[in-house]
Amino acid sequence: MAIQKLEHPMFDYQKKTSSSKEFMNEAAQVMPGGVTANIKYFEPYPIVMKYGKGAKLIDMDNQEYIDYLMSYGSLVTGHGHNEVKKAVIEQMERDGTWLFGTPHSLEVEMGKRLQQHFPSMELLRYTNSGTEATLLALRIAAAHTGKHKIAKFEGHYHGGYDQMLVSVSPPVHQAGDPESPESLPDSKGMSTSHLRNTIVLPFNDAKACKRILHEHKDEIGAVMIEPIQAGFIPADPSFLKGLRQVTEELGMVLIFDEVKTGYRTCLGGAQHIYDVKPDLTTLGKAIGGGYPIGVVGGKKEIMMHSSPVEGADVFDSSQTKSGTAKDVLFHSGTYNGHPMILAAGMAVIDILERELESTLRKTEQLKTGMNELLKKYKVKGQTVGTGSIFSVVLSNMKIRNYRDLQKTDLATRKELDFSLFRKGIYMKPVNRYSVSTAHTKEDIENTLDAFEKALQEVYGGSRF
Ligand SMILES: Cc1ncc(COP(=O)(O)O)c(C=O)c1O
Repeated sequence: MAIQKLEHPMFDYQKKTSSSKEFMNEAAQVMPGGVTANIKYFEPYPIVMKYGKGAKLIDMDNQEYIDYLMSYGSLVTGHGHNEVKKAVIEQMERDGTWLFGTPHSLEVEMGKRLQQHFPSMELLRYTNSGTEATLLALRIAAAHTGKHKIAKFEGHYHGGYDQMLVSVSPPVHQAGDPESPESLPDSKGMSTSHLRNTIVLPFNDAKACKRILHEHKDEIGAVMIEPIQAGFIPADPSFLKGLRQVTEELGMVLIFDEVKTGYRTCLGGAQHIYDVKPDLTTLGKAIGGGYPIGVVGGKKEIMMHSSPVEGADVFDSSQTKSGTAKDVLFHSGTYNGHPMILAAGMAVIDILERELESTLRKTEQLKTGMNELLKKYKVKGQTVGTGSIFSVVLSNMKIRNYRDLQKTDLATRKELDFSLFRKGIYMKPVNRYSVSTAHTKEDIENTLDAFEKALQEVYGGSRF
């Protein structure tokens, strides 16, 4: 097929999204770059949405999209699900308030439901985001082991704080030997001390990981991993099992960060699929179905470090029985275990217990269709991912880690995504697809139709 690329990948983007452009100019007068989270930004400016329902979003120019960003995977039941909405309203009407500032029954009810699906979480705590969950998990691990260095994997994201914002998306030419990756900062303003305390490991390289962990065995207290990198690049089963073994041998707390994979691979997350039990697990995103939440759970003996019973309260020294506040692990938060959010969370579990299977089947149908189209148009590409998340990767090589992904054709993937915008398919360019219970068979068929046209448009043939 003759290659006849677009003159410019976004040749009518600005025309079709002029209201978004206008809005973003105004927003830039209020917030740096016009956004309140950098992830919401992309060049030349993001599309601004004004309405969402089910699997659909409508932008400021009244164009409709089938949404596959699903707010970075958190909207696992889609936009504005009636059952979730009803659960939130009922909680407020039943309880009179949406915030007690005391323990309450939903904390326990939701916790028990989470424990059914994640039996490794013998005890758990709630936070308000995935970031707070991973932060707390690291503190608990350090309290347990007395060792303060941490190990993470190149290309893995665990939240935007200095300790973990290391080698998430490093320039490959600066990232060093693939078997001994450098610790590189992902933000301006970070102290270099964190780079010394955060050791970077190569994903899916068991031998190199074992060597590095042994080299730092007296310093590293915790190893945190996305068992499925970025939600779509799978760990080799033997790699995860090996990591479990070596961390156990060296007395390091193994933390599975399942903020992306929780509920999305299956209700029990990647740990269920791989049959590997971490010491601690962090959850977020889909657990709240679009409401802000994080969870840390794990082995009782480790989680008990956060128990205040018989301990000191940093805000109230009169309660101290066993010593000073530093004898207790500090964990607090005005909104932790917010009743309204837990009510939403329980409705999400109800919906997924009924509908996750069919959502996974729809995702498979979408992936299979895309793979067939890539083949039909002789495009070097594939879908990569399990469960209800995947990405379209423009390369035929097996993708095993961050560096492999950098070798794929990311520039054309971006063109493809802009072409899909024009055909009513939305996701942040070069991001992964997250399918929800709200996506219908018709949405999947329409997406495949749009994908075929986008391939024709980007790789050659007619313009539409
Ligand atoms: C694996 C993982 N951990 C932690 C986080 C941080 O979660 P949040 O954005 O809710 O703070 C994210 C967010 O994308 C994530 O994907």
